[in-house]
Amino acid sequence: MANNLLKGKRGIIFGALNEQSIAWKVAERAHEEGATFVLTNAPIAMRMGEINSLAEKTGSEIIPADATSIEDLENLISKSMEILGGKIDFVLHSIGMSVNVRKGKHYTDENYDWTMKGLDVSALSFHKVMQTSKKLNAMNEWGSIVALSYIAAQRVFPDYNDMADNKSYLESIARSFGYHYGISDKVRVNTISQSPTMTTAGSGVKGFNEFINYSERMSPLGNASALACADYCIAMFSDLTKYVTMQNLFHDGGFSSTGVTQEVISRFSD
Ligand SMILES: NC(=O)c1ccc[n+]([C@@H]2O[C@H](COP(=O)([O-])OP(=O)(O)OC[C@H]3O[C@@H](n4cnc5c(N)ncnc54)[C@H](O)[C@@H]3O)[C@@H](O)[C@H]2O)c1
Repeated sequence: MANNLLKGKRGIIFGALNEQSIAWKVAERAHEEGATFVLTNAPIAMRMGEINSLAEKTGSEIIPADATSIEDLENLISKSMEILGGKIDFVLHSIGMSVNVRKGKHYTDENYDWTMKGLDVSALSFHKVMQTSKKLNAMNEWGSIVALSYIAAQRVFPDYNDMADNKSYLESIARSFGYHYGISDKVRVNTISQSPTMTTAGSGVKGFNEFINYSERMSPLGNASALACADYCIAMFSDLTKYVTMQNLFHDGGFSSTGVTQEVISRFSD
């Protein structure tokens, strides 16, 4: 359903790897809503080549950038303004990776080089994106920047490992940078805390299938899909949410406010 919510708006979308990616759905929805944008991902992710079909479908250009590299980000943001013909109205940071998770390292036995790498990719990159865009004066007033998070930032989900710490840091950056960016440029910054979703990053977490089923039964509305998450991102990029900033916004079918559901508790009756 298209309502021209982003008509005339220009954006940068990080993190569309394949059709399952949340960023992929956001790009499709942003296109439907009349936005123009640049797609970006780590150079290594480009090798899969899938992003080309998304670019074609949405009439977008692709600029590779490692989100941990200031040089790449400067190139991405300045070129995006050239290609799109002006300053940027919205940015989606849809990036996450933990080497400890990938390699099955337990939380109590972290390899700290891997921890630092995951922190840089998953959290600090969000600061780098905003610091670079601020220095380049790249954002329009009332622009909106969104990163994706997960409730493990607030509560323990053991197999989420050091990604939990990365998400806490990410959400804190949204608050702190949101303060400064709001005052200097009227730019808003938020994180959306999404339900578990079957994507490449998601399925890297141990026991993910069981976990997705558990979460489905613990959420009064059920798990939110990637497409539903994209709809929420569109709302956050639109002018209908102009005074929402420095928030972590749960998009989880009610999971975060539920202690237990009848369906789950009934499994424990003897
Ligand atoms: N899938 C879930 O269950 C879930 C739940 C809540 C939040 N999230 C978050 O949503 C976001 C998107 O993940 P997804 O589930 O769509 O999975 P995904 O694997 O499709 O996306 C992750 C993206 O991060 C990119 N990336 C990794 N390193 C990078 C780097 N150095 N520079 C630039 N990009 C890099 C990958 O190439 C990939 O496109 C992540 O922040 C993830 O933590 C996911």
